[in-house]
Amino acid sequence: MKNIIQLTEKNIEIDSEIETLRDDALAFGSVLGHTPTFHVTTFGCQMNARDSEKLRGTLISAGFMESDDEDADVVIYNTCTVRENANLKVYGRLGVLNGYKKKNPNMKICLCGCMMQESDEAEKIRKSYPFVDLIFGTHNVNNFPVLMHRILSGEKHVKEILEENKASNEGLPVERKYSFKEGINIMYGCDNFCSYCIVPYVRGREISRDPKDILREIETLVNDGVIEIMLLGQNVNSYGKKFPEGSSVSGGEMNFVDLLREIEKIDGLKRIRFMTSHPKDLSDELIDEIAASNKICHHIHLPLQSGSTKVLKEMNRHYTKESYLALASKIRERIPDISLTTDIMVGFPGETEDDFLDTMDVVEKVRFDSAFTFIYSMRTGTPAAKRDDQIPEEVVKDRFSRLLKKVQDIGTEQTKKLECKVMPVLVEEKNEREENLLTGRLSNNAVVHLHGSEDLIGKIVPVHLDKAMNFYYFGEIV
Ligand code: SAH
Ligand code: SF4
Ligand code: F3S
Repeated sequence: MKNIIQLTEKNIEIDSEIETLRDDALAFGSVLGHTPTFHVTTFGCQMNARDSEKLRGTLISAGFMESDDEDADVVIYNTCTVRENANLKVYGRLGVLNGYKKKNPNMKICLCGCMMQESDEAEKIRKSYPFVDLIFGTHNVNNFPVLMHRILSGEKHVKEILEENKASNEGLPVERKYSFKEGINIMYGCDNFCSYCIVPYVRGREISRDPKDILREIETLVNDGVIEIMLLGQNVNSYGKKFPEGSSVSGGEMNFVDLLREIEKIDGLKRIRFMTSHPKDLSDELIDEIAASNKICHHIHLPLQSGSTKVLKEMNRHYTKESYLALASKIRERIPDISLTTDIMVGFPGETEDDFLDTMDVVEKVRFDSAFTFIYSMRTGTPAAKRDDQIPEEVVKDRFSRLLKKVQDIGTEQTKKLECKVMPVLVEEKNEREENLLTGRLSNNAVVHLHGSEDLIGKIVPVHLDKAMNFYYFGEIV
Protein backbone atom coordinates (compact mmCIF):
# COMPACT_ATOMS: atom_id res chain seq x y z
CA MET A 1 0.00 0.00 0.00
CA LYS A 2 2.44 2.59 -1.11
CA ASN A 3 1.39 6.08 -1.85
CA ILE A 4 3.88 8.23 -3.65
CA ILE A 5 2.08 11.48 -3.94
CA GLN A 6 3.57 13.43 -6.77
CA LEU A 7 6.66 13.48 -8.86
CA THR A 8 8.45 16.67 -7.96
CA GLU A 9 12.15 17.39 -7.82
CA LYS A 10 12.05 16.48 -4.14
CA ASN A 11 10.52 13.10 -4.94
CA ILE A 12 13.15 12.36 -7.54
CA GLU A 13 15.83 13.15 -4.94
CA ILE A 14 14.08 10.90 -2.40
CA ASP A 15 13.78 8.10 -4.98
CA SER A 16 17.52 8.15 -5.55
CA GLU A 17 18.16 8.17 -1.78
CA ILE A 18 15.93 5.12 -1.41
CA GLU A 19 17.78 3.48 -4.30
CA THR A 20 21.03 3.91 -2.33
CA LEU A 21 19.34 2.52 0.78
CA ARG A 22 18.27 -0.52 -1.23
CA ASP A 23 21.95 -1.29 -1.94
CA ASP A 24 22.70 -0.81 1.77
CA ALA A 25 19.91 -3.24 2.67
CA LEU A 26 21.37 -5.86 0.34
CA ALA A 27 24.83 -5.44 1.86
CA PHE A 28 23.39 -5.50 5.41
CA GLY A 29 21.44 -8.63 4.48
CA SER A 30 24.56 -10.46 3.33
CA VAL A 31 26.30 -9.68 6.63
CA LEU A 32 23.26 -10.92 8.55
CA GLY A 33 22.61 -13.91 6.32
CA HIS A 34 18.96 -12.98 5.86
CA THR A 35 16.76 -10.13 4.60
CA PRO A 36 17.12 -7.38 7.22
CA THR A 37 14.05 -6.97 9.41
CA PHE A 38 12.75 -3.82 11.09
CA HIS A 39 10.23 -2.73 13.68
CA VAL A 40 8.85 0.77 14.37
CA THR A 41 7.33 1.41 17.81
CA THR A 42 5.20 4.55 17.94
CA PHE A 43 4.42 6.55 21.08
CA GLY A 44 2.12 9.57 21.29
CA CYS A 45 -0.39 11.07 18.91
CA GLN A 46 -1.54 10.84 15.30
CA MET A 47 1.30 13.14 14.20
CA ASN A 48 3.80 10.51 15.24
CA ALA A 49 1.66 7.71 13.81
CA ARG A 50 1.73 9.47 10.46
CA ASP A 51 5.53 9.98 10.61
CA SER A 52 5.94 6.30 11.45
CA GLU A 53 4.04 5.36 8.28
CA LYS A 54 6.71 7.27 6.36
CA LEU A 55 9.56 5.52 8.16
CA ARG A 56 7.95 2.13 7.48
CA GLY A 57 7.21 3.07 3.86
CA THR A 58 10.85 4.03 3.33
CA LEU A 59 12.26 0.82 4.80
CA ILE A 60 9.80 -1.41 2.94
CA SER A 61 10.59 0.39 -0.34
CA ALA A 62 14.27 -0.22 0.32
CA GLY A 63 13.73 -3.96 0.77
CA PHE A 64 13.65 -4.36 4.55
CA MET A 65 11.07 -6.76 5.98
CA GLU A 66 8.68 -5.61 8.70
CA SER A 67 8.66 -7.69 11.87
CA ASP A 68 5.98 -7.82 14.55
CA ASP A 69 8.38 -7.78 17.44
CA GLU A 70 11.17 -5.52 18.60
CA ASP A 71 13.82 -8.20 18.31
CA ALA A 72 14.54 -6.99 14.75
CA ASP A 73 17.68 -5.89 12.88
CA VAL A 74 16.55 -2.25 12.81
CA VAL A 75 14.40 -0.90 15.63
CA ILE A 76 13.01 2.62 15.65
CA TYR A 77 11.34 4.27 18.63
CA ASN A 78 9.23 7.25 17.54
CA THR A 79 8.95 9.03 20.87
CA CYS A 80 6.45 11.38 22.55
CA THR A 81 7.20 13.81 25.36
CA VAL A 82 3.82 15.38 26.12
CA ARG A 83 3.83 13.95 29.65
CA GLU A 84 6.64 12.59 31.81
CA ASN A 85 5.18 9.06 31.56
CA ALA A 86 5.76 9.04 27.82
CA ASN A 87 9.50 9.64 28.38
CA LEU A 88 9.71 7.07 31.18
CA LYS A 89 8.27 4.40 28.88
CA VAL A 90 11.07 4.98 26.37
CA TYR A 91 13.83 4.86 28.99
CA GLY A 92 12.25 1.74 30.47
CA ARG A 93 12.36 -0.09 27.16
CA LEU A 94 15.80 1.02 26.01
CA GLY A 95 17.32 -1.48 28.44
CA VAL A 96 15.41 -4.30 26.76
CA LEU A 97 16.67 -3.16 23.33
CA ASN A 98 20.24 -3.21 24.65
CA GLY A 99 19.68 -6.83 25.65
CA TYR A 100 18.60 -7.65 22.08
CA LYS A 101 21.63 -5.87 20.69
CA LYS A 102 23.97 -7.95 22.84
CA LYS A 103 22.56 -11.05 21.11
CA ASN A 104 22.58 -9.40 17.67
CA PRO A 105 25.54 -6.95 17.57
CA ASN A 106 24.62 -5.87 14.03
CA MET A 107 21.31 -4.50 15.27
CA LYS A 108 20.67 -0.79 14.65
CA ILE A 109 18.74 1.17 17.29
CA CYS A 110 17.19 4.49 16.21
CA LEU A 111 15.31 7.11 18.22
CA CYS A 112 13.24 9.89 16.71
CA GLY A 113 10.13 11.94 17.50
CA CYS A 114 9.25 14.70 19.91
CA MET A 115 11.45 13.66 22.82
CA MET A 116 14.53 14.04 20.60
CA GLN A 117 13.67 17.72 19.99
CA GLU A 118 14.44 18.36 23.66
CA SER A 119 18.16 18.96 23.74
CA ASP A 120 18.60 17.66 27.31
CA GLU A 121 16.93 14.35 26.49
CA ALA A 122 18.80 13.88 23.21
CA GLU A 123 22.10 14.66 24.96
CA LYS A 124 21.32 12.26 27.82
CA ILE A 125 20.66 9.48 25.34
CA ARG A 126 23.83 10.20 23.38
CA LYS A 127 25.94 10.13 26.58
CA SER A 128 24.29 7.43 28.67
CA TYR A 129 22.93 5.07 26.02
CA PRO A 130 25.88 4.56 23.66
CA PHE A 131 24.22 1.55 22.02
CA VAL A 132 21.79 3.93 20.24
CA ASP A 133 23.00 4.29 16.64
CA LEU A 134 20.82 7.10 15.32
CA ILE A 135 18.95 10.06 16.83
CA PHE A 136 16.88 12.40 14.67
CA GLY A 137 14.22 15.04 15.26
CA THR A 138 10.66 15.69 14.11
CA HIS A 139 11.87 18.05 11.37
CA ASN A 140 14.31 15.51 9.96
CA VAL A 141 11.89 12.74 8.99
CA ASN A 142 12.34 13.49 5.29
CA ASN A 143 16.05 12.94 5.61
CA PHE A 144 15.51 9.44 7.06
CA PRO A 145 16.80 7.55 3.95
CA VAL A 146 20.09 9.47 4.13
CA LEU A 147 20.42 8.98 7.89
CA MET A 148 19.83 5.23 7.54
CA HIS A 149 22.45 5.14 4.80
CA ARG A 150 24.95 6.77 7.14
CA ILE A 151 24.50 4.24 9.95
CA LEU A 152 24.47 1.29 7.55
CA SER A 153 27.73 2.60 6.06
CA GLY A 154 29.31 2.17 9.49
CA GLU A 155 28.98 5.67 10.97
CA LYS A 156 28.42 5.54 14.71
CA HIS A 157 26.19 7.72 16.87
CA VAL A 158 24.59 9.77 14.11
CA LYS A 159 22.55 12.67 15.44
CA GLU A 160 20.60 15.15 13.32
CA ILE A 161 18.13 17.53 14.89
CA LEU A 162 16.80 20.62 13.13
CA GLU A 163 15.39 23.31 15.37
CA GLU A 164 12.60 24.42 13.05
CA ASN A 165 10.50 22.95 10.26
CA LYS A 166 12.56 24.25 7.37
CA ALA A 167 11.55 21.65 4.84
CA SER A 168 8.26 19.89 4.36
CA ASN A 169 7.94 16.35 5.61
CA GLU A 170 6.19 15.21 2.44
CA GLY A 171 7.45 12.98 -0.32
CA LEU A 172 8.55 9.78 1.42
CA PRO A 173 6.69 6.62 0.49
CA VAL A 174 3.96 5.84 3.02
CA GLU A 175 3.14 2.38 4.34
CA ARG A 176 -0.50 2.59 5.37
CA LYS A 177 -1.91 0.63 8.28
CA TYR A 178 -5.40 0.45 6.78
CA SER A 179 -6.26 0.22 3.07
CA PHE A 180 -9.55 2.11 3.45
CA LYS A 181 -8.77 4.93 5.88
CA GLU A 182 -5.89 7.30 6.37
CA GLY A 183 -4.72 10.32 8.36
CA ILE A 184 -3.46 13.37 6.47
CA ASN A 185 -1.52 16.27 7.93
CA ILE A 186 -3.13 19.51 6.88
CA MET A 187 -0.81 21.52 9.08
CA TYR A 188 2.31 21.07 11.15
CA GLY A 189 3.37 22.52 14.49
CA CYS A 190 1.50 24.75 16.90
CA ASP A 191 1.52 28.46 17.74
CA ASN A 192 -0.78 28.40 20.73
CA PHE A 193 1.73 27.97 23.55
CA CYS A 194 -0.71 26.70 26.15
CA SER A 195 1.35 27.30 29.28
CA TYR A 196 1.62 23.60 30.24
CA CYS A 197 2.37 22.19 26.79
CA ILE A 198 5.65 21.12 25.20
CA VAL A 199 4.25 20.53 21.68
CA PRO A 200 5.04 24.03 20.24
CA TYR A 201 8.66 23.60 21.37
CA VAL A 202 9.11 20.13 19.84
CA ARG A 203 6.94 20.45 16.73
CA GLY A 204 7.80 24.01 15.77
CA ARG A 205 5.68 26.85 14.41
CA GLU A 206 2.30 26.28 12.83
CA ILE A 207 2.40 25.84 9.06
CA SER A 208 -0.63 25.04 6.91
CA ARG A 209 -0.01 22.80 3.93
CA ASP A 210 -0.93 24.04 0.48
CA PRO A 211 -4.56 23.00 -0.18
CA LYS A 212 -3.63 21.83 -3.69
CA ASP A 213 -1.19 19.31 -2.22
CA ILE A 214 -3.74 18.15 0.36
CA LEU A 215 -6.45 17.67 -2.28
CA ARG A 216 -4.09 15.86 -4.63
CA GLU A 217 -3.01 13.57 -1.79
CA ILE A 218 -6.60 12.74 -0.85
CA GLU A 219 -7.57 12.12 -4.49
CA THR A 220 -4.65 9.71 -4.85
CA LEU A 221 -5.72 7.92 -1.67
CA VAL A 222 -9.36 7.70 -2.77
CA ASN A 223 -8.28 6.27 -6.14
CA ASP A 224 -6.40 3.69 -4.13
CA GLY A 225 -9.50 2.61 -2.15
CA VAL A 226 -9.57 5.01 0.81
CA ILE A 227 -13.10 5.99 1.89
CA GLU A 228 -12.38 7.73 5.20
CA ILE A 229 -9.81 10.41 5.92
CA MET A 230 -8.78 12.10 9.14
CA LEU A 231 -7.42 15.63 8.72
CA LEU A 232 -4.67 16.16 11.27
CA GLY A 233 -3.40 19.27 13.00
CA GLN A 234 -2.92 20.55 16.56
CA ASN A 235 -5.58 23.17 15.87
CA VAL A 236 -7.30 22.44 12.56
CA ASN A 237 -9.66 25.38 13.05
CA SER A 238 -6.83 27.79 12.42
CA TYR A 239 -5.96 26.15 9.08
CA GLY A 240 -5.02 28.71 6.44
CA LYS A 241 -4.08 31.50 8.79
CA LYS A 242 -0.44 31.17 7.76
CA PHE A 243 0.58 29.73 4.41
CA PRO A 244 4.21 29.10 3.61
CA GLU A 245 5.81 31.26 0.95
CA GLY A 246 5.40 29.99 -2.58
CA SER A 247 2.19 28.05 -1.91
CA SER A 248 -0.65 28.35 -4.41
CA VAL A 249 -2.61 30.48 -1.95
CA SER A 250 0.09 32.73 -0.51
CA GLY A 251 -1.57 36.03 0.11
CA GLY A 252 -4.94 34.43 -0.74
CA GLU A 253 -7.77 33.28 1.47
CA MET A 254 -8.50 29.69 2.41
CA ASN A 255 -9.84 28.70 5.80
CA PHE A 256 -10.63 25.29 7.27
CA VAL A 257 -14.25 25.31 6.07
CA ASP A 258 -13.16 26.26 2.52
CA LEU A 259 -10.78 23.32 2.61
CA LEU A 260 -13.50 20.96 3.90
CA ARG A 261 -15.82 22.06 1.09
CA GLU A 262 -13.18 21.22 -1.52
CA ILE A 263 -12.50 17.84 0.10
CA GLU A 264 -16.22 17.01 0.23
CA LYS A 265 -16.36 17.31 -3.57
CA ILE A 266 -14.03 14.33 -4.02
CA ASP A 267 -16.08 11.47 -5.44
CA GLY A 268 -15.74 8.16 -3.69
CA LEU A 269 -14.72 9.69 -0.37
CA LYS A 270 -17.35 8.76 2.21
CA ARG A 271 -16.21 9.95 5.62
CA ILE A 272 -14.23 13.01 6.68
CA ARG A 273 -12.90 13.40 10.21
CA PHE A 274 -10.60 16.01 11.72
CA MET A 275 -8.57 16.44 14.88
CA THR A 276 -7.98 18.55 16.99
CA SER A 277 -10.40 21.48 17.27
CA HIS A 278 -9.34 24.27 19.58
CA PRO A 279 -12.47 25.80 21.18
CA LYS A 280 -11.17 29.35 20.66
CA ASP A 281 -11.19 29.00 16.86
CA LEU A 282 -14.26 26.84 16.18
CA SER A 283 -16.53 28.93 13.94
CA ASP A 284 -20.29 28.96 13.35
CA GLU A 285 -19.47 28.40 9.71
CA LEU A 286 -17.83 25.09 10.64
CA ILE A 287 -20.81 23.97 12.74
CA ASP A 288 -23.13 24.75 9.80
CA GLU A 289 -20.88 22.89 7.40
CA ILE A 290 -20.85 19.75 9.58
CA ALA A 291 -24.65 19.96 9.92
CA ALA A 292 -25.11 20.30 6.15
CA SER A 293 -22.57 17.73 5.01
CA ASN A 294 -23.25 14.06 4.50
CA LYS A 295 -19.55 13.25 4.54
CA ILE A 296 -18.22 15.06 7.60
CA CYS A 297 -18.58 12.75 10.59
CA HIS A 298 -20.72 13.84 13.51
CA HIS A 299 -17.91 13.95 16.00
CA ILE A 300 -15.97 16.89 17.40
CA HIS A 301 -13.02 16.41 19.72
CA LEU A 302 -13.03 19.68 21.66
CA PRO A 303 -10.42 19.71 24.42
CA LEU A 304 -11.68 21.49 27.53
CA GLN A 305 -8.52 21.12 29.71
CA SER A 306 -10.21 22.89 32.65
CA GLY A 307 -13.65 24.25 33.48
CA SER A 308 -12.30 27.11 35.58
CA THR A 309 -12.07 30.48 33.84
CA LYS A 310 -9.18 31.43 36.13
CA VAL A 311 -7.21 28.27 35.26
CA LEU A 312 -8.04 28.57 31.56
CA LYS A 313 -6.59 32.07 31.56
CA GLU A 314 -3.42 30.83 33.23
CA MET A 315 -3.26 28.00 30.73
CA ASN A 316 -3.41 30.61 27.92
CA ARG A 317 -6.41 28.86 26.33
CA HIS A 318 -8.30 32.03 25.27
CA TYR A 319 -11.80 30.91 26.27
CA THR A 320 -13.83 30.92 29.49
CA LYS A 321 -16.05 28.41 31.26
CA GLU A 322 -19.09 30.29 29.95
CA SER A 323 -17.89 30.60 26.36
CA TYR A 324 -17.03 26.87 26.27
CA LEU A 325 -20.48 25.95 27.61
CA ALA A 326 -22.15 28.26 25.09
CA LEU A 327 -20.13 26.73 22.24
CA ALA A 328 -20.95 23.17 23.30
CA SER A 329 -24.66 23.86 23.59
CA LYS A 330 -24.69 25.65 20.22
CA ILE A 331 -23.07 22.60 18.62
CA ARG A 332 -25.51 20.19 20.30
CA GLU A 333 -28.48 22.33 19.24
CA ARG A 334 -27.46 22.53 15.59
CA ILE A 335 -26.24 18.94 15.29
CA PRO A 336 -28.29 16.95 17.82
CA ASP A 337 -26.61 13.59 17.11
CA ILE A 338 -23.06 14.99 17.40
CA SER A 339 -20.64 13.22 19.67
CA LEU A 340 -18.57 15.63 21.74
CA THR A 341 -15.35 14.26 23.19
CA THR A 342 -12.65 16.07 25.09
CA ASP A 343 -9.31 16.17 26.91
CA ILE A 344 -9.27 17.27 30.55
CA MET A 345 -6.34 17.85 32.83
CA VAL A 346 -6.34 17.96 36.63
CA GLY A 347 -3.71 19.40 38.94
CA PHE A 348 -2.58 22.41 36.90
CA PRO A 349 -0.48 24.64 39.24
CA GLY A 350 -2.66 26.69 41.57
CA GLU A 351 -5.83 24.66 40.82
CA THR A 352 -8.11 24.97 43.88
CA GLU A 353 -10.97 22.69 44.89
CA ASP A 354 -13.36 25.32 43.49
CA ASP A 355 -11.52 25.37 40.17
CA PHE A 356 -11.80 21.59 40.04
CA LEU A 357 -15.52 21.75 40.84
CA ASP A 358 -15.91 24.09 37.84
CA THR A 359 -14.37 21.36 35.68
CA MET A 360 -16.81 18.80 37.14
CA ASP A 361 -19.65 21.24 36.47
CA VAL A 362 -18.74 21.61 32.79
CA VAL A 363 -18.49 17.81 32.45
CA GLU A 364 -22.01 17.50 33.90
CA LYS A 365 -23.45 20.24 31.73
CA VAL A 366 -21.85 19.26 28.41
CA ARG A 367 -22.28 15.51 28.99
CA PHE A 368 -19.23 14.47 26.99
CA ASP A 369 -19.61 11.24 25.04
CA SER A 370 -16.13 10.33 26.17
CA ALA A 371 -13.06 12.06 27.53
CA PHE A 372 -9.34 11.53 27.89
CA THR A 373 -8.35 12.56 31.39
CA PHE A 374 -4.80 13.45 32.35
CA ILE A 375 -2.85 14.36 35.43
CA TYR A 376 -0.90 17.57 34.82
CA SER A 377 2.72 16.75 34.13
CA MET A 378 5.44 19.36 34.58
CA ARG A 379 7.29 19.89 31.28
CA THR A 380 10.67 21.59 31.55
CA GLY A 381 10.79 24.79 29.52
CA THR A 382 7.07 25.57 29.71
CA PRO A 383 5.85 28.58 31.76
CA ALA A 384 3.66 26.43 34.05
CA ALA A 385 6.68 24.36 35.13
CA LYS A 386 8.28 27.47 36.68
CA ARG A 387 5.37 28.03 39.07
CA ASP A 388 5.92 27.35 42.74
CA ASP A 389 2.29 26.40 43.44
CA GLN A 390 2.39 22.86 42.02
CA ILE A 391 -0.40 20.71 43.50
CA PRO A 392 0.48 17.88 45.93
CA GLU A 393 0.19 14.41 44.44
CA GLU A 394 -2.47 13.08 46.84
CA VAL A 395 -4.78 16.05 46.07
CA VAL A 396 -4.35 15.52 42.32
CA LYS A 397 -4.96 11.77 42.57
CA ASP A 398 -8.17 12.31 44.52
CA ARG A 399 -9.45 14.84 41.96
CA PHE A 400 -8.43 12.60 39.11
CA SER A 401 -10.40 9.63 40.39
CA ARG A 402 -13.49 11.77 41.04
CA LEU A 403 -13.26 13.17 37.52
CA LEU A 404 -12.70 9.77 35.94
CA LYS A 405 -15.77 8.34 37.64
CA LYS A 406 -17.94 11.23 36.48
CA VAL A 407 -16.64 11.07 32.92
CA GLN A 408 -17.25 7.30 32.80
CA ASP A 409 -20.75 7.48 34.29
CA ILE A 410 -21.84 10.19 31.86
CA GLY A 411 -20.14 8.51 28.90
CA THR A 412 -21.97 5.27 29.69
CA GLU A 413 -25.31 7.10 29.77
CA GLN A 414 -24.52 8.90 26.51
CA THR A 415 -23.57 5.62 24.81
CA LYS A 416 -26.91 4.08 25.87
CA LYS A 417 -28.75 6.69 23.77
CA LEU A 418 -28.09 4.87 20.51
CA GLU A 419 -28.94 1.40 21.85
CA CYS A 420 -31.42 -0.47 19.61
CA LYS A 421 -30.89 1.96 16.72
CA VAL A 422 -29.63 0.95 13.27
CA MET A 423 -26.55 2.94 12.28
CA PRO A 424 -23.91 2.74 9.51
CA VAL A 425 -20.65 1.20 10.68
CA LEU A 426 -17.34 1.26 8.83
CA VAL A 427 -15.90 -2.20 9.52
CA GLU A 428 -12.21 -1.71 10.34
CA GLU A 429 -10.60 -4.92 11.52
CA LYS A 430 -10.87 -8.35 13.06
CA ASN A 431 -11.49 -8.12 16.78
CA GLU A 432 -8.21 -8.52 18.63
CA ARG A 433 -9.63 -10.67 21.40
CA GLU A 434 -12.46 -12.65 19.89
CA GLU A 435 -12.04 -14.81 16.81
CA ASN A 436 -15.49 -14.38 15.29
CA LEU A 437 -15.94 -10.68 15.88
CA LEU A 438 -15.20 -7.68 13.69
CA THR A 439 -14.73 -4.14 14.98
CA GLY A 440 -15.82 -0.92 13.32
CA ARG A 441 -16.85 2.65 14.03
CA LEU A 442 -19.95 4.77 13.82
CA SER A 443 -19.83 8.22 12.23
CA ASN A 444 -19.65 9.57 15.80
CA ASN A 445 -16.44 7.53 16.29
CA ALA A 446 -17.90 5.06 18.83
CA VAL A 447 -16.59 1.51 18.50
CA VAL A 448 -18.96 -1.33 17.51
CA HIS A 449 -18.22 -5.06 17.71
CA LEU A 450 -20.22 -7.23 15.32
CA HIS A 451 -20.30 -10.67 13.72
CA GLY A 452 -19.44 -10.95 10.06
CA SER A 453 -16.91 -12.23 7.56
CA GLU A 454 -13.56 -10.60 7.05
CA ASP A 455 -14.43 -9.43 3.54
CA LEU A 456 -16.59 -6.73 5.15
CA ILE A 457 -13.44 -4.95 6.35
CA GLY A 458 -13.32 -1.55 4.66
CA LYS A 459 -17.06 -1.47 3.96
CA ILE A 460 -19.82 0.59 5.51
CA VAL A 461 -22.70 -1.64 6.65
CA PRO A 462 -25.97 -0.99 8.54
CA VAL A 463 -25.77 -2.39 12.08
CA HIS A 464 -28.40 -2.81 14.77
CA LEU A 465 -26.79 -1.66 18.04
CA ASP A 466 -28.02 -4.48 20.29
CA LYS A 467 -26.23 -3.52 23.46
CA ALA A 468 -24.37 -0.44 24.69
CA MET A 469 -21.43 -1.14 26.97
CA ASN A 470 -19.42 1.69 28.59
CA PHE A 471 -18.03 3.40 25.51
CA TYR A 472 -18.83 0.83 22.82
CA TYR A 473 -21.54 -1.41 21.39
CA PHE A 474 -22.27 -4.98 20.42
CA GLY A 475 -24.37 -5.10 17.26
CA GLU A 476 -25.52 -7.26 14.36
CA ILE A 477 -25.63 -6.43 10.67
CA VAL A 478 -29.21 -5.99 9.43
N1 SAH B 1 -3.58 20.34 20.28
C1 SAH B 1 -4.45 19.66 21.14
C2 SAH B 1 -3.77 18.79 22.16
C3 SAH B 1 -2.54 18.02 21.88
S1 SAH B 1 -1.78 17.26 23.28
C4 SAH B 1 -5.29 20.69 21.87
O1 SAH B 1 -4.93 21.81 22.03
O2 SAH B 1 -6.30 20.34 22.36
C5 SAH B 1 -3.09 16.18 23.82
C6 SAH B 1 -3.53 16.42 25.22
O3 SAH B 1 -2.50 16.17 26.13
C7 SAH B 1 -3.96 17.84 25.54
O4 SAH B 1 -5.24 18.13 25.12
C8 SAH B 1 -3.82 17.91 27.03
O5 SAH B 1 -5.01 17.54 27.68
C9 SAH B 1 -2.76 16.87 27.32
N2 SAH B 1 -1.53 17.51 27.78
C10 SAH B 1 -0.74 18.37 27.10
N3 SAH B 1 0.28 18.78 27.88
C11 SAH B 1 0.12 18.17 29.09
C12 SAH B 1 0.83 18.20 30.32
N4 SAH B 1 1.90 18.97 30.49
N5 SAH B 1 0.37 17.45 31.34
C13 SAH B 1 -0.73 16.67 31.20
N6 SAH B 1 -1.44 16.61 30.07
C14 SAH B 1 -1.03 17.35 29.02
FE1 SF4 C 1 -0.39 22.08 23.10
FE2 SF4 C 1 -2.15 24.02 23.24
FE3 SF4 C 1 -0.87 23.57 20.95
FE4 SF4 C 1 -2.68 21.86 21.82
S1 SF4 C 1 -3.05 23.98 21.21
S2 SF4 C 1 -0.67 21.36 21.03
S3 SF4 C 1 -2.42 21.90 24.03
S4 SF4 C 1 0.03 24.28 22.86
FE1 F3S D 1 3.44 13.53 21.85
FE2 F3S D 1 4.62 14.88 19.96
FE3 F3S D 1 2.12 14.15 19.66
S1 F3S D 1 4.82 15.25 22.13
S2 F3S D 1 1.33 14.09 21.74
S3 F3S D 1 3.83 12.78 19.82
S4 F3S D 1 3.05 16.02 18.89
